[in-house]
Amino acid sequence: MTTEPSAGPLADLARHRFDYETAGLDVADVDADPMVQWQRWYREAGEAGCTEPNAFVLGSVDEEGWPQSRYILLRGADQRGFTFFTNYDSAKSRQMAATGRASMLFTWLQLHRQVRVLGEVVRVPDAESDEYFASRPQGSQVGAWSSPQSQPIPDRAWLEQRVQQMAGTFGDAPVPRPAFWGGWLLRPQRFEFWQGRPSRLHDRLRYTAEPTDGAATNWQIERLAP
Ligand SMILES: Cc1cc2nc3c(=O)[nH]c(=O)nc-3n(C[C@H](O)[C@H](O)[C@H](O)COP(=O)(O)O)c2cc1C
Repeated sequence: MTTEPSAGPLADLARHRFDYETAGLDVADVDADPMVQWQRWYREAGEAGCTEPNAFVLGSVDEEGWPQSRYILLRGADQRGFTFFTNYDSAKSRQMAATGRASMLFTWLQLHRQVRVLGEVVRVPDAESDEYFASRPQGSQVGAWSSPQSQPIPDRAWLEQRVQQMAGTFGDAPVPRPAFWGGWLLRPQRFEFWQGRPSRLHDRLRYTAEPTDGAATNWQIERLAP
């Protein structure tokens, strides 16, 4: 992205169009492993100064078939998949537990990029949730104990009183992880990398996991029409 002083919003627009023209996406350019490709785009989003580049929209389907979306912060991305943390009694956790599936949407608008991911979800091992919970600021730890996430509550004062009570209970002692709070791992089965291009002729590359006999995943890559 350009860092030159702008002569006004219209001049910026013209430059952005130029940028998108140079930043195309082709099968020849991308890594055969979509997680490696995702990591490359994540690094570039950070370098481009995107706000909270690890924020993504988590999609799940509720008991009545309604699609449900909410932002979450990603806490891990490796060969196992994507890891994030939340309340296990929350609406999203109940939905993921019931269907075993979820979607993720990353958007890095400064780079005119989005990545869609579909996969199966499982809880991470307790030890991993313990380790992450222990790394959080104490205020967040007490907050996790205090908030019955997704449940109706009477008012703000009720919540603040719970926080005070919990903070009093723990005092200066280390705050243990509540059993109702922990991580989820999404194991990707499909990725789509989308790069904005001029004239709405965007680049879309979809990776689909092909069934294998337990060895490393084979990914089929296809270009989709914009
Ligand atoms: C940028 C951003 C990041 C968020 N990160 C998390 C997160 O990591 N974990 C979480 O439980 N909620 C997070 N939230 C709040 C969720 O969007 C949501 O309100 C909450 O998890 C309850 O969702 P549910 O009722 O569908 O389960 C975040 C919200 C925003 C806007």
